Amino acid sequence: MSLIDKLDHNRLPAHIAIIMDGNGRWAKTRGLDRSAGHREGVEAIRRVVEAASAASIQYLTLYAFSTENWHRPMDEVSGLMDLMVYALTRETARLKKNGVRIVVIGDLDRLPDNVRKILQDCIQETAGGKNLTLVIALSYSSKWELTQAVKKISDDIESGILHKEDICEETFSNYLTTRNLPDPDLLIRTGGEQRISNFLLWQSAYAEFYFTETFWPDFNDEELYKAILDYQKRERRFGKISEQIEPEQ
Ligand code: IPE
Ligand code: IPE
Ligand code: MG
Repeated sequence: MSLIDKLDHNRLPAHIAIIMDGNGRWAKTRGLDRSAGHREGVEAIRRVVEAASAASIQYLTLYAFSTENWHRPMDEVSGLMDLMVYALTRETARLKKNGVRIVVIGDLDRLPDNVRKILQDCIQETAGGKNLTLVIALSYSSKWELTQAVKKISDDIESGILHKEDICEETFSNYLTTRNLPDPDLLIRTGGEQRISNFLLWQSAYAEFYFTETFWPDFNDEELYKAILDYQKRERRFGKISEQIEPEQ
């Protein structure tokens, strides 16, 4: 029996975000190049997107490449960019068929032209997807995102579009790349590290964290459902006390 049958469909996380870590170590334990780990990581992405769709998850955000990852050796960075183009070219038709809508967040100006182009095509092609919104965080970091939000807010105040008195948490959220997306309910990190690595700092203010030793290329549908089941055991109090929480129907 698959763990999908054990999920409580009334208590699903609307938005799951994943820090996909451990590709390099997965490859190393097999005596392979890091690039082999990244290639296998693409297969895990496909499995997890399908598993999330099957469980009726509405939003899935995948941390694919951080701002800090630009500092990796040049051949690894260009290998990852090529892999992105390969994967998107191969997967777009299937994503569209499965009703998956692609959204990309990050400092896209830093991406090579061919990657930006394929992303634009994929976003356009899949725009009508109604089942799952798949958010790819690419050249993304929270500190970059928060800094650019402050700059845009300053510009808008200067030009009179925005008044200082009107800035509230909601206004601020609207200046982030994640505007229109709900905050993640569940944040998963694979690969054993227990850190957030500059990912969705504002948006994860009340996310539930789940860490697993499993390297990303080994992650699969059952691992995803295990994380959701763990999430479903938790009580989200948002600062209140237990007695104030409405019992779930
Ligand atoms: C995650 O795996 C993929 C990216 C950051 C692009 P890593 O490449 O960080 O793998 P480890 O952490 O070195 O094992
Ligand atoms: C975080 O993984 C970024 C992505 C998964 C894209 P890293 O492997 O780059 O994180 P650190 O450097 O170990 O914190
Ligand atoms: Mg890593």
